[in-house]
Amino acid sequence: MTNNAFARDMATALAGRPRSISPKYFYDAEGSRLFDRICELPEYYPTRTEIGILERSAGEMAALAGAGAEIVEFGAGSLRKVRLLLQAFDRPARYLPIDISGEHLRDAAAILRAEFPGLEVQPLVGDYTQSLALPAPVGHGKRIGFFPGSTLGNFTPDEAVAFLQRAAAVLQGGALLLGADLVKDPHVLHAAYNDGQGVTAAFNLNLLARANRELGTNFNLARFHHYAFYNAALQRIEMHLVSRERHSVTLAEERYLVEEGESLHTENSYKFTVDGLRAMAVRAGFRPGPVWTDPERLFSVHWLHAP
Ligand code: AVJ
Repeated sequence: MTNNAFARDMATALAGRPRSISPKYFYDAEGSRLFDRICELPEYYPTRTEIGILERSAGEMAALAGAGAEIVEFGAGSLRKVRLLLQAFDRPARYLPIDISGEHLRDAAAILRAEFPGLEVQPLVGDYTQSLALPAPVGHGKRIGFFPGSTLGNFTPDEAVAFLQRAAAVLQGGALLLGADLVKDPHVLHAAYNDGQGVTAAFNLNLLARANRELGTNFNLARFHHYAFYNAALQRIEMHLVSRERHSVTLAEERYLVEEGESLHTENSYKFTVDGLRAMAVRAGFRPGPVWTDPERLFSVHWLHAP
């Protein structure tokens, strides 16, 4: 992703009403560090819950994948999760992580090559939301897609179905292993995005700090509230940056007036029911298989066959 795209999308956001920008811009080096801290917060249950599910059930997942499978990960987030699969799978043939950050990919690839000497690791730099071109399969094992973390929740429902359709096409004959956060007590959801230490607020505001660093904008972070709430009607957490006062912001010699109370919408994080997720997968051409959840039913991991 080029700075050009960020500059263009930020200009569109500032000129638009309501203002919104893609959450993919959260993840510069500082944003990735803040996200890692979010994953450790007591209020942010998804990461540790999903890891618990994978720890408990990787053996069953490995049996479904069969010998010599290859794993295609959409976004190479945390090594902890895919490591659990690679350890459980029977002689996995290849690991293909796709990520927009080449640097992050190279680091992850080096670590996994050292840990799994028989494993072919072939990182692909690219935006999996834009295109999903994959090299020809190796060996005779299944191709298993891995999309953990409920990142699917960043898409609108239409975008999610479109992404799943493209995933089903490239995984034909294999399956997608998909992590999806579940609807639950809204207070639990609210707390997960309004942590007591303010790490999620810093993560949200870092979008403006990143724009200042990379685009030369002059956002004053103290002029914005981090505002995150659960929109039950739309089954999603919304994150916003709300202006505390009337002020103006400059980007590429253009001045944008921001009124008191105006919002920049930075993220949607959709939550799912198990049945709703399975119905969406069917619409995208998958045949839903087993589902694993934690005892509190906070989070779900789905095996979706790609016929
Ligand atoms: C990485 C998109 C799954 O939606 O929970 C965490 C990002 N935003 N806290 C999520 C996030 C605020 C996270 N995803």
